[in-house]
Amino acid sequence: MSQVTPEQVRVALQTVLDPATERDIVTSRQLGEVSVSADGIALHVDLISPGYPLRGGLEAAIRTTLDRFALPITITWGLKIPRKPPRQDLDRVPSIKNVIAVAAGKGGVGKSTVAVNLALALQRLGAKVGMLDADIFGPSVPHMLGPASRPCDKSVDGQRIIPALHRGMPIMSLDFFVEAGKAVMWRGPMIHKLLQQFLEDVNWGELDYLVIDMPPGTGDVQLSLSKLLPITGAVVVTTPQEVALLDVRKAIDMFTHAEIPVLGVIENMSHYRCPACGHVDHLFAAGGGRRLASDFDLPLLGELPLEGAISTSGELGNPIVSIAPDSDNTRVFLSVAANVGLAAAKLQGVGPIRSSLLRTV
Ligand SMILES: Nc1ncnc2c1ncn2[C@@H]1O[C@H](COP(=O)(O)OP(=O)(O)O)[C@@H](O)[C@H]1O
Ligand SMILES: [Mg+2]
Repeated sequence: MSQVTPEQVRVALQTVLDPATERDIVTSRQLGEVSVSADGIALHVDLISPGYPLRGGLEAAIRTTLDRFALPITITWGLKIPRKPPRQDLDRVPSIKNVIAVAAGKGGVGKSTVAVNLALALQRLGAKVGMLDADIFGPSVPHMLGPASRPCDKSVDGQRIIPALHRGMPIMSLDFFVEAGKAVMWRGPMIHKLLQQFLEDVNWGELDYLVIDMPPGTGDVQLSLSKLLPITGAVVVTTPQEVALLDVRKAIDMFTHAEIPVLGVIENMSHYRCPACGHVDHLFAAGGGRRLASDFDLPLLGELPLEGAISTSGELGNPIVSIAPDSDNTRVFLSVAANVGLAAAKLQGVGPIRSSLLRTV
């Protein structure tokens, strides 16, 4: 079989479909370099989302198709996250491919905790991630991420602001501009102007995802952001209690009106596992997040326990995904991140990804 050519391999691979998009990997340009040598066939394939949950199926299809050449096959995997062509009317930050808003109906449900860990999980899966702390009245992202390796540089005259760098991620927060302990009392137009500056005047660089920690509820910030940039989708955080769920329904309704897709629901403080005996207790009514997701026909992206380690890690600036990379909680965040990435790729128009392909917990 020494006469096998890279071209023959490419032609054969035209029949291999990415299981998420159902487009063949040659037309979609996911197939990169192909070479044939004495060692066999080597090829490079780009995946459309970080932690792509369907890689096993794609690899099996490639190997089965190339069986006919009877040569060893080596596949290297890359990541090429798709994006729509930038919108002229609504694109202040063309270097950002996806904007993911983490929202909640209420404060105190763990939205910032989820936003920070989701961003770190996307980064760990190989994506370039930044964070915008849009919770103007309670900015907490910089604190939760721990000390900055580079502080925010606001001094550059006439040039763009350099965001702070925390755990390798560019971060912008009102926290960098107000004195500690001072309250912010701003009205809608000022908030709008500030958010506009955070998007237009900040040197974000090339990002696959900007994760936004939204303030709770349905107010000025939400409205402004939906008018300032194309939000790819929202992740909604809730606790299982009925009072939290009531507010979250309003948040989902707001996103629907603003034509922002909701990617799914995360139920936080879902249950408590006794560290001594392992007994699992549903402190609040069980299954609220699951019911909510099913009522709106949304994926339930994850269920996180109420756990001291999740709280203290955030309070001390050591998010759980960073300090306990192999824990069950981190696994939930990695699975949420992979699902969010796949749903976002779908919304960037790469093909008809079936929602049944999303892993639900
Ligand atoms: N799963 C959890 N288990 C234990 N404590 C949590 C959990 N999620 C959040 N917390 C704690 O609850 C408080 C509120 O969380 P935070 O992320 O600041 O909420 P929000 O941004 O919605 O106001 C924080 O003290 C945080 O450490
Ligand atoms: Mg918060």
